[in-house]
Amino acid sequence: MANDTFLRVEGLAKRFPSGKGELTVFDKVDFGIAKGEFVCIIGHSGCGKTTILNVLAGLEQPSAGYVFMDGREVCGPGLERGVVFQGHALMPWLSVMGNVAFAVRSRRPRWNRAKIEAHARRFIELVGLAGAEHKKPAELSGGMKQRVGIARAFAIEPKMLLLDEPFGALDALTRGVIQDELLRIVQATHQTVFMITHDVDEAILLADRILLMSNGPNARIAEVVRNTLPRDRTRLTIHHDPQFYRIRNHLVDFLVHRSKLIQQGTTDASAGGSGGPIEVSPGLDADADGAADGAPPDTMPATPVPKLIAVK
Ligand SMILES: Nc1ncnc2c1ncn2[C@@H]1O[C@H](COP(=O)(O)OP(=O)(O)OP(=O)(O)O)[C@@H](O)[C@H]1O
Ligand SMILES: [Mg+2]
Repeated sequence: MANDTFLRVEGLAKRFPSGKGELTVFDKVDFGIAKGEFVCIIGHSGCGKTTILNVLAGLEQPSAGYVFMDGREVCGPGLERGVVFQGHALMPWLSVMGNVAFAVRSRRPRWNRAKIEAHARRFIELVGLAGAEHKKPAELSGGMKQRVGIARAFAIEPKMLLLDEPFGALDALTRGVIQDELLRIVQATHQTVFMITHDVDEAILLADRILLMSNGPNARIAEVVRNTLPRDRTRLTIHHDPQFYRIRNHLVDFLVHRSKLIQQGTTDASAGGSGGPIEVSPGLDADADGAADGAPPDTMPATPVPKLIAVK
């Protein structure tokens, strides 16, 4: 892995006790994230994405393996990592302002109240919740609660953002606005991001690389897809680039076919064997015939799936 690797995951495994002994959710998970890189992970429900994110956050211990961030082993939670949870995980007795300000105060204990609130307000406005500062979580819709969680994670300006389907509960319009904001912030601050999503279009818009996880149990990162679309891509223009469809077809093909075959051990293509996951660049594969990397031919029309494909 390159020297600029900021986050390094080595030989990660998670096993839970189950009726029949032990359930190995995932095993031999290895990957790295460079500083300033945006990495998405995609895989079917239950393959262990949230568990991996919790281990990166220091909230859960792995059964085997290590996580290093910025040269140090991750052994517990820390404010240098900002987490947006799959459920919003807000403090119900605090207002919107209270929830965001609480996180800012923990991160900046020397700031006075006015400075903390001004800082928190900037991020509350960013997620479109200006005017709702005084409301308690019980008074908010699911999407609004999720946006408070996003504001809270951004407001601590962490070294690394860990996002677990952060836009899952948002309507399409709000989701688009916040995706654009996230892109803008990430590009301006060179924020390092690890994000779980079920939406292949969202992954192609946001990520520099996309980790593809095979189905569980015994899931692993089977393949790493490099996003070769120019980084100044936008939601409104991305689909004009032929690379978009090549990458999209490749991801959908993995989710529909190969993720299951790899779990069953009926293919060794991209199996993420002892050598770790292979890295592919289907966007550049203009002459692809499907043989080289298991992707559908480039000449095929985009797989007819709904715009926001649901992987679950
Ligand atoms: N505390 C636990 N005890 C036992 N099994 C668990 C525990 N936490 C998670 N699991 C199991 O581990 C597996 C992976 O769960 P995880 O939440 O990481 O999946 P996921 O990929 O995030 O799924 P989704 O896409 O539905 O969010 C599941 O089969 C789940 O039942
Ligand atoms: Mg999950």
